[in-house]
Amino acid sequence: MNKYRSLKVILKRIKSNIMLFDSRTGLLSLFIVPYMILFKKMLVDIEDALNFCFGNTLFSEFIKPMQNKEEISALMHYLKDLRPRIILEIGTAKGGTLFLWTFVAINDATIISIDLPGGPFGSGYPILRMPLYKSFARRKQKIILIRGNSHDPRTLNKVKRILSGRQIDFLFIDGDHTYEGVKKDFEMYSPLVRKGGIIAFHDIVPGPAEKVGGVPRFWKELKSIMGTDKIMEFVRDWNQGAGGIGLIIKFW
Ligand SMILES: C[S@@+](CC[C@H](N)C(=O)[O-])C[C@H]1O[C@@H](n2cnc3c(N)ncnc32)[C@H](O)[C@@H]1O
Repeated sequence: MNKYRSLKVILKRIKSNIMLFDSRTGLLSLFIVPYMILFKKMLVDIEDALNFCFGNTLFSEFIKPMQNKEEISALMHYLKDLRPRIILEIGTAKGGTLFLWTFVAINDATIISIDLPGGPFGSGYPILRMPLYKSFARRKQKIILIRGNSHDPRTLNKVKRILSGRQIDFLFIDGDHTYEGVKKDFEMYSPLVRKGGIIAFHDIVPGPAEKVGGVPRFWKELKSIMGTDKIMEFVRDWNQGAGGIGLIIKFW
């Protein structure tokens, strides 16, 4: 029994060192690409996708979403009925949510994901991870990765160029969690969302500043301005100290 336990500890250490190495270099992610291309074909629905990336395998560790499984599952089921054609995500990190969006978006959707290399609240991803993220695309979907500061007007212009007049169906804000940062993301990118589209925020649950930043404060303010009939909250437990997803249906 003791031998078994120490073997488990050793394996866990090896796993976390591999992950640490890859999150700095992205080198090992390159080897995952063929596996991803092969495996994603076997994943049919939202449940398969969630079990795959929240699983306990080494492969799932590469793309584990920085989310609570129940909350992101609730959001995905809600989005599935909307059949988003254009998705914009701010905050790619390990690609966890990016992977999941491909299971709610339509077959020829465009999914754009922005991340700032070395950015706060997750530190972005190395350039060598890009092929892995691109390989998430299903059927005729297009994944476009932007490595830059979402607050930079040049990033906004890039997004506008990609959209070329089309509007966003679903905007996921999970980048800079400071109060000013999340507010700026909302102010800059919400005008690109179509009327009836969805804008969602991660980390609306109050908790330590290093985890949730000023998102709970911003969400509270937004809720009081927008009113509750266009708002939904997916929160497992308001005392969990972080996480929670809030969404607004754009009515203006
Ligand atoms: C919490 S993580 C995103 C997690 C991801 N959505 C998931 O659940 O798997 C936040 C990411 O936002 C990025 N970020 C922080 N500030 C940013 C900014 N101003 N522009 C773009 N990305 C930013 C960080 O680099 C980090 O990788």
